[in-house]
Amino acid sequence: MGSARRRHVALIGFMGSGKTTVGQLVAERLGLAFVDTDRLVERMVGLDIPTIFAHEGEAAFRAYETEALQQALQGSPCVIATGGGLVTVEANWDMMASRALTVWLRIGFEVIRRRLQGSVDRPLLHGDPTLQRAHALYQSREPLYRRADVWVDAGQTPIHVAKAVVRTVHVDWQAH
Ligand code: S3P
Repeated sequence: MGSARRRHVALIGFMGSGKTTVGQLVAERLGLAFVDTDRLVERMVGLDIPTIFAHEGEAAFRAYETEALQQALQGSPCVIATGGGLVTVEANWDMMASRALTVWLRIGFEVIRRRLQGSVDRPLLHGDPTLQRAHALYQSREPLYRRADVWVDAGQTPIHVAKAVVRTVHVDWQAH
């Protein structure tokens, strides 16, 4: 398993699917750096995500997010937790296609609903207390998440999910 064969690991999935928690565990286990595109955007812009959405709108956020992904993919292989909507921009798929193993943290909406109740730092959930709009968004995005190279059941504990991701990464690194 030579290092030249290793590619990045990009975790994709809906808000609340555990990309950050699982990503940190996976990075630790693989001895790789961890990058969260949301945090990278906040550092680049110097504002938090709700403020970016409020002042500049979603389209501007998406452009920053693409820039953050590009930065993350430039360095040596790392584990990338992507924002839930990163999959909606085709250019992001083009960038990830050759350089990252994409892993969908797949989880049913009812679990997500429980996890997202009371979340205050996600602008797309503002004014949606019953998460009805979030549910529609989840359904519209599911076909995009399905495009991932591998799917992992994210309805288990983070450590179990992380172990499953690590297994798929090892298979990927052996195959490339
Ligand atoms: C978004 C998900 C968020 C963040 C932003 C938009 C989305 O990330 O990028 O609020 O469009 O689903 P998480 O998936 O990490 O919550």
